[in-house]
Amino acid sequence: MNLVGTGRTADVWALDDARVLRRYRDGRSAEPEAELLRHLHAHGFPVPPMHLVDGPEMTLGRVGGPTMLHALSTGGLDLHTAARIVLDLHALLHAVPPRGPGEAILHMDLHPDNVLLGPDGPVLIDWCNAIEGPPGLDLAMTAVILGQVAVDGPFAEGAAAFARPFIAASPSLLPHLDNALAHRAADPHQSAAELAALPRAADFIRAAAG
Ligand SMILES: Nc1ncnc2c1ncn2[C@@H]1O[C@H](COP(=O)(O)OP(=O)(O)OP(=O)(O)O)[C@@H](O)[C@H]1O
Ligand SMILES: [Mg+2]
Repeated sequence: MNLVGTGRTADVWALDDARVLRRYRDGRSAEPEAELLRHLHAHGFPVPPMHLVDGPEMTLGRVGGPTMLHALSTGGLDLHTAARIVLDLHALLHAVPPRGPGEAILHMDLHPDNVLLGPDGPVLIDWCNAIEGPPGLDLAMTAVILGQVAVDGPFAEGAAAFARPFIAASPSLLPHLDNALAHRAADPHQSAAELAALPRAADFIRAAAG
């Protein structure tokens, strides 16, 4: 099997041209995520089709196309179009009826490395952090993730240019910023450098919100 992707929580292999196998490294059940994918697919939200789930493994439809991050890095996609796609994905997701008592389904990790640009349009992957809650919290989480990259490291300039129009277009995130920062601080996959960047990310977001 050909490894096509490896993130912080899962490994992804190509089974063939049409299917990938995604396996949680910590052995947790993929069943809750599979159920969410079925629900989102049934409501017309762009997720990879879910074929099979077995313990920590899911067989998913393979999206033929680069991640949004890759397309940005090669110049195949401009920052404003990318920021608009991320805003549109938030709006579309938050219009899907939740299954539980929460206000909306939130992805909570909606950033350019979790958007695949498929032949039929953008597809949102990596649903392991999804919860239900207020849409502004999901927008705030995207702002925090972008803000962390915007204040540190080699991609700071590009991330800041991406984040500013996204934040300026999303005033409803501000009341949820502290909650999003707390979620991020509690994420066990965050490195010491990423945690250290959080206060500066918060300042960046407040300044970008104007
Ligand atoms: N359905 C799919 N079709 C094609 N490629 C995929 C698909 N799902 C995942 N990938 C590839 O695998 C990579 C990792 O997938 P994913 O983001 O789901 O893993 P993760 O371990 O949860 O990542 P993270 O580090 O963001 O937590 C993606 O960036 C993408 O390149
Ligand atoms: Mg990912």
